[in-house]
Amino acid sequence: MKPFAARIVDWQHLHGRHSLPWQQTRDTYRIWLSEIMLQQTQVATVVGYYERFLARFPDVNCLAGAAEDEVLALWSGLGYYSRARNLHAAAQRIVAAHAGRFPPTAAGLMQLPGIGRSTAAAVAALACGERCAILDGNVKRVLARHAGIAGWPGDKRVENDLWQCAESRLPAKDIESYTQGMMDLGAMVCTRTQPDCAHCPVAADCVAHTENRTHTLPTPRPKKVLPERQTQMLLLLDRGELLLEKRPARGIWGGLWSLPELDAAADCSLHCQQRWGYDVEAQHALPPLIHGFTHFRLTIQPMRLHLAPRTTTPPGHVWLPLADVLDAALPAPVRKLLAPLSAT
Ligand code: ADE
Repeated sequence: MKPFAARIVDWQHLHGRHSLPWQQTRDTYRIWLSEIMLQQTQVATVVGYYERFLARFPDVNCLAGAAEDEVLALWSGLGYYSRARNLHAAAQRIVAAHAGRFPPTAAGLMQLPGIGRSTAAAVAALACGERCAILDGNVKRVLARHAGIAGWPGDKRVENDLWQCAESRLPAKDIESYTQGMMDLGAMVCTRTQPDCAHCPVAADCVAHTENRTHTLPTPRPKKVLPERQTQMLLLLDRGELLLEKRPARGIWGGLWSLPELDAAADCSLHCQQRWGYDVEAQHALPPLIHGFTHFRLTIQPMRLHLAPRTTTPPGHVWLPLADVLDAALPAPVRKLLAPLSAT
């Protein structure tokens, strides 16, 4: 049997993906952008965003010179907006400190904002041919199964074992195809549920496959009970327009456009009058929404409030026509709340 890496490379040539937009280039800027967009986001979602982003910001200088709001607007709907803020900050650093040229190694790339060890390795391997190991979620699954590494991969000790495993399997040559092959195998064959082991090039010596453990590897995150928080979110409506509030730059949803919030127990009509001088003509509770953060669960009580025609806009706020609200950079649960409203 050929070595693990050679089987991955052969499989990538025959069955892997070859025509994704970011595979037609060795431009570090383009590959970096794709890797950032592909973090926690499916290929099918990324493609359109990737092309629009490149049309507006074709190189790192253009991106560095942009206003952050415009970068966030092009990210609107992709989620995890700290990616966009870090992308912008990294572009500015590359222009200011590296004369507009990307560091050509994973070690150099890792010094930039938003580029962790695996992303740095993916960019260095795909753009520069550096022989280095990646370990994103898909690759963790392939390796945990193939090597039979139990334990939740988010646990440092397990992650270290997986990194060692990833390093020890690298090919002597063809790192580009190997890297893409590991990603493709994880996305197309070694899927989380119902992996297609019959078509896997490394099934013959895969521990999980041979021991019938693909459904228990990798070990899922241990379930813990998260603390609960509650909030009201106000949908203030006046003549077909909705009030959005810009979140502070730091903290949860930093820099995004969100709905005004207040304590779960507070009287929202009174709040509108006292805070903004707005008169509420009708108020109506919408179904609550639960949003999971890593450290707590947030129960959102949305309140729809119809105002008497207002004359002012408070600082840090905008009134947007309902038809345009989904174009703003919104936190995911706010987007979910507003989607049915803006469709009507
Ligand atoms: N996921 C992360 N990086 C990827 C890439 N280069 N191609 C396809 N999916 C990916």
